[in-house]
Amino acid sequence: MKALKITGYGNPKENLDMQEVALPSIKENEVLIKIHAASVNPIDNILLSGAFDAVMPVQFPGPIGFDVAGTVIEKGAAVKNFNIGDKVYSRLSEAGAIAEYVASDSAIVAQKPTNISFEEAAGLPLVGLTAMHSLKNLGRIKAGDKVFIQAGSGGVGTFAIQYAKSKGAYVATTTSTKNVEWIKSLGADLVIDYTKEDYTKFISGYDIVLMAFGDEHTLEVINSVNNVGKLIGLNGALDKDALDAWGVQGEQRAYLENAGKHVLEAAMEKGIDYRFTVHELSAAQLDEITQLVENKAIKPVVDKVFGLDDSIQALEYLASGRAKGKVVIQVQP
Ligand SMILES: NC(=O)c1ccc[n+]([C@@H]2O[C@H](COP(=O)([O-])OP(=O)(O)OC[C@H]3O[C@@H](n4cnc5c(N)ncnc54)[C@H](OP(=O)(O)O)[C@@H]3O)[C@@H](O)[C@H]2O)c1
Repeated sequence: MKALKITGYGNPKENLDMQEVALPSIKENEVLIKIHAASVNPIDNILLSGAFDAVMPVQFPGPIGFDVAGTVIEKGAAVKNFNIGDKVYSRLSEAGAIAEYVASDSAIVAQKPTNISFEEAAGLPLVGLTAMHSLKNLGRIKAGDKVFIQAGSGGVGTFAIQYAKSKGAYVATTTSTKNVEWIKSLGADLVIDYTKEDYTKFISGYDIVLMAFGDEHTLEVINSVNNVGKLIGLNGALDKDALDAWGVQGEQRAYLENAGKHVLEAAMEKGIDYRFTVHELSAAQLDEITQLVENKAIKPVVDKVFGLDDSIQALEYLASGRAKGKVVIQVQP
């Protein structure tokens, strides 16, 4: 089968290679998924760059991609919750989504929503689990909360806006001029054009502030915004729970603790509860996403669909930072 491989740390053009590899064999708790579609996420480019070597080192040639939608074609003896032919989706525990087949623990696989395509379904798991962990598990979102979501036009943002609205929250978000009207149509109550206005002036007193782009922006909030309920980071300073969740120890832990210390200290000094999101791989949460999509509370947002042989272009497009919703790879019919 075809599988995209990371051949060394670097960039998509020079360090990715489509290779012919053996079909994966399955363990008794696993299903073999024929992949119809995959989606790409910033973590794929981060792992490829080597920037996450301290947390998730890549063994070369290493697999890439975490989001899949496809059909179950084989199952292990202990798998009771799936049948051959089931149409499923998953955020894989180990990379390997940009390939024709993948073996996965059935405990992190769910039935895909019936009312959307495989391409749309492949765009949901990682961003959906991230938005839900941030807003529900860490943010304890409830009706009437005021929620700020940085980068409403990205993969996470397009899901998070709709999720927060489905919970009855008031949602403010940022995007650039060209995306403002479109993001309003996703249900956001206040869309701030970050190229024209300082978003920090609007979000004092918010219950949840979800920051997408790292320490510089997170510090802007800590320094300029008052009465923040929960400040949640998707990128940048890692708190103790995040380091524990990833099992980072020793020198790497000391290095990462030191890298994020100034943010954690600044938050603590201002009495702000800062948390870093490490989303859970949870079939129960995927089932909840399936319900939300089937009830039309959440609509998948797909920007571009690339063919499997154009996977490198898909990762380059995502790395441009301008994607509007999800970047998807159509793998096989
Ligand atoms: N911790 C976790 O579990 C986890 C999981 C998923 C993602 N993440 C992180 O979350 C972040 C977002 O991920 P994603 O998948 O949504 O990324 P993405 O889809 O690549 O985001 C692209 C979008 O970001 C917007 N954008 C860029 N700079 C912006 C700025 N300064 N202010 C507001 N919007 C801006 C762009 O809109 P314009 O073209 O209008 O600028 C574009 O629509 C990334 O840093 C990613 O690494 C973390």
